[in-house]
Parts: sequence; structure tokens; C-alpha cells
Amino acid sequence: MKAPETIQTKRLLLRRPQMEDAQEIFERYASDPDVTRYLHWETHGSVDATREFLRLSHAAWEAGPAGPYLIRSRESGLVLGSTGLDFEIPDRPMTGYVLAQDAWGQGFATEALGAMVDLARSLDLPSLLACCHPDNAASIRVLEKGGFDLEGRLTACAKFPNLSGDAMCDILAYACDLC
Ligand SMILES: CC(C)(COP(=O)(O)OP(=O)(O)OC[C@H]1O[C@@H](n2cnc3c(N)ncnc32)[C@H](O)[C@@H]1OP(=O)(O)O)[C@@H](O)C(=O)NCCC(=O)NCCS
Repeated sequence: MKAPETIQTKRLLLRRPQMEDAQEIFERYASDPDVTRYLHWETHGSVDATREFLRLSHAAWEAGPAGPYLIRSRESGLVLGSTGLDFEIPDRPMTGYVLAQDAWGQGFATEALGAMVDLARSLDLPSLLACCHPDNAASIRVLEKGGFDLEGRLTACAKFPNLSGDAMCDILAYACDLC
């Protein structure tokens, strides 16, 4: 089953990203080191890095049931961030979210996460996973509000390139049971 390429929530328009979104994604959040601190991908140094992300996004959408979604405000049309479903490990679909700084603190991540949980349920997935850095308090709170339970702390198992280069860091693994 394939996910819809566009999803609407109360305040958000989630849409499969297109190559022409590159400049806006780069400027709004992908080049901001405060935004990417706790992410697994390096802060984009040029719009070419954003285009590479969009190529990977396209490949994910072609290979699996879904991929990244760009988040826009329904009111203003402005790019707010991105979310999505990642099927890189097909039996363990994961979600995540990132927002431009001026979009923080308004409940947008919680709203986007709710849409990903609804989408995962509509795709008959048994559960949805999410991981975050143990110090990422805002993200932990979003996962708790979204109905995710802490599965455990995995020791030295992921890189956070913008935080600690090549060092392996602990992560918190969360899951939302959809059955
Ligand atoms: C994490 C992020 C997506 C949260 O987005 P958001 O739209 O501000 O989140 P929401 O408004 O839906 O909810 C945030 C919650 O965290 C709480 N919060 C924010 N900062 C916090 C902090 N430093 N400590 C504890 N709680 C915090 C807020 O009070 C809110 O909880 P509440 O509704 O109970 O008051 C956003 O900060 C972001 O994009 N950060 C950079 C990218 C990132 O880290 N992504 C997650 C990777 S796992």
C-alpha cells in the first residue's frame, strides 16, 4: 500500500518534497546549526546538500510505501520543517521531525507526529519507532505527547555529527503500538 503524497492536518500541509523545494528547505532549517544539533545528518553547507537529501527522498518514495514529507503552514504556505516515515529497515518503520526555529513551541511537531501515527495505522503497520538523543528534551516531550513509550536506552549506537563528530552516542528508543 502506498501512502498519499499530501496530508492535511488542522494547521499543516504535509507533502512529498520536490526538487524545487531545495532552496526553501536549505534556508528555513537545513542550514541552521541550532536546528540540526541533535540530528543524524550534517548541517547543510550548501543547497547542493539539500538537493542530495531530495534525491534520497525521491528514492525512498519510489522504493517503499512512503518517505519524507515537507511541512508547510496551511495559513501562510511557509515551509515549517519536515517529517515522514522511514522504511530503510522495512520491519522497523521509523518517524522523526525537524522544524525551523521560528516554528518551535507552537505544537506543530506534535501535530505532525499525530499525522504520521495516523498514516502508519492506515498502512497497517503494527508499530512505529522513533529515536532521539537523551538530551533532546523537547523531542522527548513530543514523543510522550504523541503516545510513544520508552523502549530503552541504546548504548553507543548512533552518530550525531553536529554534536560529537564520529563518536558513537547513546540514543533513546521509543515505540508507539498501533494494534
Ligand atoms: C524537537 C522539535 C521538533 C519540537 O517541535 P515543537 O513544535 O516546538 O514541539 P511541540 O510544540 O509540539 O512540543 C514541544 C514540547 O516540548 C516542551 N519543551 C520544549 N523545550 C523543552 C525543554 N528544553 N525541556 C523540556 N521540555 C521542553 C514544550 O514545552 C512542549 O511540551 P508541552 O506542550 O507539554 O508544553 C523542535 O524543537 C525542533 O525542530 N528541534 C530541532 C530538530 C530536532 O531536534 N528534531 C528531533 C530529532 S529526534
